[in-house]
Amino acid sequence: MSRFGLDFGTSNSALAVRRNGHAELLPVDPVAGSVMPTMLYVRRDGSVLVGQPAVDAYLRDNAARGPIRRRFKLLDVYVPSTDPQQPIVRAHILTDLEAPGRLFQSLKTFLGDPLVGATNVFGEAKGLEELIAAILAQVRARAYELTGEHPEDITIGRPVRFVGSGDAIETRAVERLRAAAELAGFRDVRFGLEPVAAAYAAEVTAGNALIFDFGGGTLDLCVARREGDAIRVLSTAGVDVGGDRFTELLIDEHVAPRLGAAQLPAFIGNAIHDWHALSALNEKDILDALDDLARAGGPRRELAALRSAIELQLGYEIFRVTDDTKIRLSDVAATILTYHHAAVDVDARVSRFRFEQLIGPSLRRIDALIAQALAEAGIAPEDLAEVVTTGGSSKIPSVRSLLRRRFSNARLRDADPFGAVAAGLALL
Ligand SMILES: Nc1ncnc2c1ncn2[C@@H]1O[C@H](COP(=O)(O)OP(=O)(O)OP(=O)(O)O)[C@@H](O)[C@H]1O
Ligand SMILES: [Mg+2]
Repeated sequence: MSRFGLDFGTSNSALAVRRNGHAELLPVDPVAGSVMPTMLYVRRDGSVLVGQPAVDAYLRDNAARGPIRRRFKLLDVYVPSTDPQQPIVRAHILTDLEAPGRLFQSLKTFLGDPLVGATNVFGEAKGLEELIAAILAQVRARAYELTGEHPEDITIGRPVRFVGSGDAIETRAVERLRAAAELAGFRDVRFGLEPVAAAYAAEVTAGNALIFDFGGGTLDLCVARREGDAIRVLSTAGVDVGGDRFTELLIDEHVAPRLGAAQLPAFIGNAIHDWHALSALNEKDILDALDDLARAGGPRRELAALRSAIELQLGYEIFRVTDDTKIRLSDVAATILTYHHAAVDVDARVSRFRFEQLIGPSLRRIDALIAQALAEAGIAPEDLAEVVTTGGSSKIPSVRSLLRRRFSNARLRDADPFGAVAAGLALL
């Protein structure tokens, strides 16, 4: 039986298998290859798609859709009414009964959340564990296709700290992830800290190393020292600062104003960068209120744009184009964020300078976390031989200059941004 390592990331996941003492990344996604978007799409007929095929199917289904048709759906709930003829009425909602499917992103972010309950997926209540299990089951099936083995032993990555605050977050998150893996058919489920795994994959050399794993949801650090064949972990540290949040800041800055955010209640403005919340605005009362506002002299173009973003569920596409714009900013000083769909028209010039201002507070939190990791390890910055980066957000230029500034004597080395954690997990 081979040992498999799975990096279940907020944005991307990767799978590796250990063979003859070496880790080999597998093309876990049949379309995207070894970097699989951590996405789940459940169609109305119950079929489940994972990874890039999930994204492609969702976009295809949505593009093929005509105008939304709403229907009244009666609920099994009776509520008092102001109508004297009918003091009690059966509650109803006006809902989009023909949505072709539901798309799930960033599920890892909710693992520690005490409030997350079951989600209604076309009439079936699905817990977070079941949704994640659907992804892991496909990963397991794909591993069989690629290796001829039904994997039973798996080491799954976990951040140093899961997203959220409060007691019991860590145990809750790990137990949910374990339950999901067992539902998916894995038997021997172990966990490894993501930055520690990356230290193994990157084969840190003699001396002290800082492993800097900066992903979509969290920043994870590890100070390690090679001692012969072994790697000794001197400290770990983590914080819920991640690239998803940076994308949200760009949406707030460049997209939300085109949808009238400044003139609307905060919960609507906030929903524009949180596409789960944007879907939840698809209720008749809210859409009526937007129409009322337009009639009362509100910004017509913006309100029409917001209405179509809500009705056509454009939140994911808006997130995607903004995320791509953010990624381009790692290579160019300025670029154009373009998105046109229905009444939404965005053409915004986005500069790296402004982006750096927006993420300034996060850069300070990163700096503080590095100081904490070094202090716990009892190491001064000049005692580091190398800094090893992994994770997509470690490509951000201001993050790299922060590392260079802080560690002018150390070697800055890039490990595989999307594969190092999975490879290391297979080796742990
Ligand atoms: N060249 C780039 N410049 C800036 N950001 C990038 C770049 N490439 C990817 N990203 C960002 O990296 C993040 C994804 O990185 P990664 O796949 O390492 O995260 P993850 O492992 O899924 O998340 P986590 O480890 O936090 O659970 C996204 O926010 C993406 O926008
Ligand atoms: Mg990661």
